[in-house]
Amino acid sequence: MAIAAAEPTAVRAFGPGTALSCRECGERYELSPSFACQFCFGPLEIAYDFGNVTREEIESGPKNIWRYRSLLPVPTNVAELPNMNPGFTPLVRADRLAAELGLKSLHVKDDSANPTHSFKDRVVAIAVEAARTFGFTTLSCSSTGNLAGAVGAAAARAGFESCVFIPAGLEEGKVVMAAVYGGKVVAIDGNYDDVNRFCSELIGDEAGESWGFTNVNLRPYYAEGSKTLAYEIAEQLGWRLPEQIVVPIASGSQLTKIDKGFQELIKVGLVEDRPYKVFGAQATGCSPVAKAWENGHDVIQPVKPDTIAKSLAIGNPADGPYVLDIAERTGGSVEHVGDDEIVDAIKLLARTEGVFAETAGGVTTGVLHKLVREGRIDPEAETVIVNTGDGLKTLNAVDSGVTATIKPSLDAFKAQGLV
Ligand SMILES: Cc1ncc(COP(=O)(O)O)c(C=O)c1O
Ligand SMILES: [Zn+2]
Repeated sequence: MAIAAAEPTAVRAFGPGTALSCRECGERYELSPSFACQFCFGPLEIAYDFGNVTREEIESGPKNIWRYRSLLPVPTNVAELPNMNPGFTPLVRADRLAAELGLKSLHVKDDSANPTHSFKDRVVAIAVEAARTFGFTTLSCSSTGNLAGAVGAAAARAGFESCVFIPAGLEEGKVVMAAVYGGKVVAIDGNYDDVNRFCSELIGDEAGESWGFTNVNLRPYYAEGSKTLAYEIAEQLGWRLPEQIVVPIASGSQLTKIDKGFQELIKVGLVEDRPYKVFGAQATGCSPVAKAWENGHDVIQPVKPDTIAKSLAIGNPADGPYVLDIAERTGGSVEHVGDDEIVDAIKLLARTEGVFAETAGGVTTGVLHKLVREGRIDPEAETVIVNTGDGLKTLNAVDSGVTATIKPSLDAFKAQGLV
């Protein structure tokens, strides 16, 4: 008698994700498009039941974030679905920058090498899958610029309508990047915190109730995308955690999820448990978390941003208190640098490593420089900095240009004294 073929394994819409769990009180909810606890208003996070995850399984996966799908809340067949498939960006060994700063071992995780040139492709990739599962047809977000571009592109690829909200006055590169994919781009006369408040209102209104806002009602899913940065850094170091990492902060989500990613790798046994220090980086003109750290406060005082680092210009960062906890727990800190130092740092990174960062990368590199100068980071320890975005989107921040304009003749060139 013929043996019946085994039933194909059913696709699990959230992979190892089992529930939403309140970060504050631990209350559990079923997986749904919600983001705040009904009891204490704490943020909701994905809870997991990880199976046996091996290095071999990951290493044989695609060269993008889906190689970590058994650690992410995405459908088990995610690699077959239309998505931007970001990730597996270079971990650049930064020997020349290390030598200039006096560090023994430094790497730059260059996340400008993503499809829309920022780390936001990672978070959006997860949010798109959640939006698909929940049946949303429009993708939206409140954005400081990079997220708008990532949402526009992902919506186009995956077949969603899109409508994104940004503060008026963003850099041209970011506005064009958001608009070119054909979705709606709405600039709001105000800063990011005004945009975010507006989006919260829109979600509560019938006009927006069927929309998937990547960083609002889909935030628990979206935020998990940043864990892949931690996974990749560890894998690219040879399945080892770095000893020190410097991460830029806007809402603080990315920093908290890099820490969560490291903790998960330890928990499932993919890396050895060794101490690591997490350092947060802000621009002085928008440094509510760094100021709270400096003053020893555990409450963040919101600020009105005024900095060239517009991608980091969130005056009331949702995950700020968790950033302070992580810096404290790991022995790191939260620092800030002014606009002039940001520009100098963009040029330093470009001149030494050939990596052209946007202003957020300037903040991170500038903070690294400051930590070294002030003797507050260990120069002997294995250090990683994260470049989260591409300098081509913030061209006006740097005043670089041609060295000379000449007639096409050898004499004219020699007359410049350049050789
Ligand atoms: C280039 C870049 N880096 C870092 C961040 C910080 O992200 P988070 O809000 O997760 O702290 C952002 C946020 O918009 C960004 O655009
Ligand atoms: Zn709660």
